[in-house]
Amino acid sequence: MFYVLFNCKMPAILVTGGAGYVGSHTVMAMLEKSDFEYEIVVVDNLSNAYRAKGEKKPVALLRIEEMTGKTIQFYEVDIRDKQGLSNVFGKHDVQCVIHFAALKAVGESVEKPLEYCQANITGTCTLFEVMRDHSVYNLIYSSSCTVYGEPEKLPLDENHPTGRGISSPYGRTKYFCEEIMKDLCASDPKWKIISLRYFNPVGAHPSGRIGEDPNGIPNNLMPFIAQVAVGRLPELKVFGTDYPTIDGTGVRDYIHVVDLADGHVKALQLFHRNGFSGFCPINLGTGTGYSVYQVISAFEKASNRPIPFVPSPRRAGDLAANWAEPAAASQLLAWNATRSLAQMCGDVWRWQSGNPNGYRE
Ligand code: NAD
Ligand code: WQD
Repeated sequence: MFYVLFNCKMPAILVTGGAGYVGSHTVMAMLEKSDFEYEIVVVDNLSNAYRAKGEKKPVALLRIEEMTGKTIQFYEVDIRDKQGLSNVFGKHDVQCVIHFAALKAVGESVEKPLEYCQANITGTCTLFEVMRDHSVYNLIYSSSCTVYGEPEKLPLDENHPTGRGISSPYGRTKYFCEEIMKDLCASDPKWKIISLRYFNPVGAHPSGRIGEDPNGIPNNLMPFIAQVAVGRLPELKVFGTDYPTIDGTGVRDYIHVVDLADGHVKALQLFHRNGFSGFCPINLGTGTGYSVYQVISAFEKASNRPIPFVPSPRRAGDLAANWAEPAAASQLLAWNATRSLAQMCGDVWRWQSGNPNGYRE
């Protein structure tokens, strides 16, 4: 009302890739906060998000609007389109960017490295140019534990070296973007960049209305299990049963996507902290690892369905185990993951059983 009366723009947060899995849950987390004072502007090229025929916005965003009663500004723009992005910055008073937009399929990146460089590196640099042109210097970047490569020791903290032994072109795009962001911050102290290194995001909003909706056959464990449970896929292949882990299967730090989304909301507050500037990497993980067999068993309990599986050879490039040291997030963001593996599985099951075909009718 104030902004309308005085004919000025409301402060905005621009979310690239906001129609995707982590982006949509973060948009939801921001809009669910009753005292949230920003307009949400989403830019997405819909390469991995679904919009129904005749609709202006992707289904995930329509559902968030329905649940929160708030409006999301949506632009179908590719982050490599400098003019398109610049137009969006011209229309809104962007205070901060949360940058999710990227291609993320590890296997596909081996076959299409140039496409991954284009989308993830060129796209990110184009976004930074447009931010600088519009004097916007606050950024939250979606990074990944993949930047640590092969762990030298566990748990992984932010001082662990990055860039060594990364097994995929996708992973390297995340690492290269972090290096570019460090250079940017060194070039101009106005930049404030928080690089959130996610461990393994899983789960769905407890409403069961938004969740992960992969195109084609899922690459990742949790959506694969969910599709086996719902009968879309016959069985799970367990990649590797001879790792030096608790039961021979790979161990990962699975984190509920709603906890992850809350981490972004907390990170926004860091921009207001006196003296905060430069490049700041922060792990978002729980600090606990679970094996593939433990995840299968938790999902069977949550869904009350058997998950048929076959022990299979290791998948190329997979690590035996990794999990986070989450102390920095606790200290800097006053954030801790609170949701259990049982909740992660329960929420995935609610989403998958209520939406067996994801966002498609
Ligand atoms: P997602 O594919 O669900 O979401 C990405 C969104 O970005 C999609 O809606 C897609 O349409 C959009 N997009 C892709 N390329 C674009 C472009 N050039 N221009 C505009 N929009 C574009 O993926 P996600 O799981 O939500 O991942 C979000 C971010 O988090 C990515 O940067 C990813 O690398 C990072 N990340 C994800 C995971 C994970 O396991 N999900 C783990 C670590 C890091
Ligand atoms: C988890 C465990 C598999 C599928 C990937 C990216 C990483 C990050 C998160 C973005 C492993 C096993 C899996 C299956 C299986 N993404 N598995 N059968 O490999 O830890 O990480 O997503 O940054 O960069 O590499 O996650 O879910 O694929 O695998 O046995 O059908 O499940 O071997 O032990 P991963 P994942």
